[in-house]
Amino acid sequence: MSKDKLSATQRERLLDAARTAMKNAHAPYSHFRVGAALLTDEGEVFSGCNVENASYGLTNCAERTAIFAAVTQCGPGMRIRAIVVVNDQDEPCSPCGACRQVIYEFGPDAVVLFKGLKSWKEAKIADLLPEGFRLK
Ligand code: THU
Repeated sequence: MSKDKLSATQRERLLDAARTAMKNAHAPYSHFRVGAALLTDEGEVFSGCNVENASYGLTNCAERTAIFAAVTQCGPGMRIRAIVVVNDQDEPCSPCGACRQVIYEFGPDAVVLFKGLKSWKEAKIADLLPEGFRLK
């Protein structure tokens, strides 16, 4: 498992994948398109977008869409090294609480990159979700 800092190339690759996924967002209710892309420990990239529903509570955030796609392809042993979140309105958008818990499940050491109020932020999931829940 690589703990090295994310390279500029990896960062660009994730940003690009997140922006591409964002274009497929189904966001007719909020009009807030979100894209996420994650890098696994094995070096693979998976992306996702938000998928809304007329029954609003059924909405799936971009981060969880990406994570579920990665688990589907790689299996439950998949580990997240980094995840990037973008939106189409240039607004600050850190992962919601539910997504933080799901990121933590598959990447307790993951780095999260998102747009903050003034500039891009890079934070460890454990700092965004102190004392995240684990069953074991
Ligand atoms: N959303 C995400 O996809 N990820 C986040 O981290 C925050 C919110 C989506 C859910 C909904 O479709 C829209 O943004 C507005 O809340």
